[in-house]
Amino acid sequence: MRNPRSHFAPLAIGAPEPLREIPVGPMRMIHFFDPSSEKMLARLPDMAASADILLGNLEDAIPADRKEAARAGLVRAGREIDLGSTPLWTRVNALESPWVLDDLVTLVTEIGSRLDVVMVPKVEGAWDIHYVDRLLAQLEARAGLSRPILIHAILETAQGVANVEEIANASPRMQGMSLGPADLAASRRMKTTRVGGGHPGYRVLGDPAGDAARPSYQQDLWHYTIGRMVDACAAAGIFPFYGPFGDIKDLEGCEAQFRGAYLMGCVGAWSLHPGQIAVAKKVFSPEPSEVAFAKRVLEAIPDGAGVHMIDGKMQDDATWKQSKVMVDLAELLAA
Ligand code: GLV
Ligand code: MG
Repeated sequence: MRNPRSHFAPLAIGAPEPLREIPVGPMRMIHFFDPSSEKMLARLPDMAASADILLGNLEDAIPADRKEAARAGLVRAGREIDLGSTPLWTRVNALESPWVLDDLVTLVTEIGSRLDVVMVPKVEGAWDIHYVDRLLAQLEARAGLSRPILIHAILETAQGVANVEEIANASPRMQGMSLGPADLAASRRMKTTRVGGGHPGYRVLGDPAGDAARPSYQQDLWHYTIGRMVDACAAAGIFPFYGPFGDIKDLEGCEAQFRGAYLMGCVGAWSLHPGQIAVAKKVFSPEPSEVAFAKRVLEAIPDGAGVHMIDGKMQDDATWKQSKVMVDLAELLAA
């Protein structure tokens, strides 16, 4: 259930704003930057030219003694640095932290008209989204903003996963959700020390009768959670993302992990290093040969109904819909 008390700018005087459609643009990667770093701020215009989305990170990886510098750097980025039309997001500190209230008050007041999405970490249930929703509404009304700021939740606690459907539907501000594999691993007491990706020990063995060498294959630790997140997001009409892949030198592993998420329905992933921007662009853009085939399906079934054979494969209403997803994405990225 969406929160019936949740509206954009409910405290604004006059007629309520119509609910904004979630903006749909390229979202292949959310590129994280540290706004407390002068070096990173200097590179932002270049990053804005190559990334689909830029996110100023205020939470984990920013030490306590740099929290204020990071917040101030993000305000500068939003006010003074030309980021073109690249969306600007932030990841605020956790809701029980001493910093989050100042994060939200400062950012909405100072750069609310430039800030598109607030990513909220460690979301455990709909109540966390309701809190941020109401606070944003108050701050937007006070700042006189007419465009609502959206919310993106990180799915990174066992309780959050248990409540994933409620979180996805908690507010019309919900833009999407990302898997947070590092915190989720800790919350579940998984025996890993990695940020996303696989583990050499999580394997399935071949059949001893079928193969003398008995090869084994690594399984995907995140398959279950991604499946739950994708279903919850699709049902709520919001966007699912893979989160971070921490081994920034392992571009092959990153590509494989992102590709699994892409095929399961995710629209993008986080990039923690410029090298991962290229990987995400490659993975989250449909293959030209697949788009060409999808176009053939749409052309062969102009009214989207009935059975047709193409290259010996059956196509029908359902493959028409799959093809439409692929062609729509290709057109969005080409625009
Ligand atoms: C991201 O925040 C993670 O915990 O993986
Ligand atoms: Mg985390």
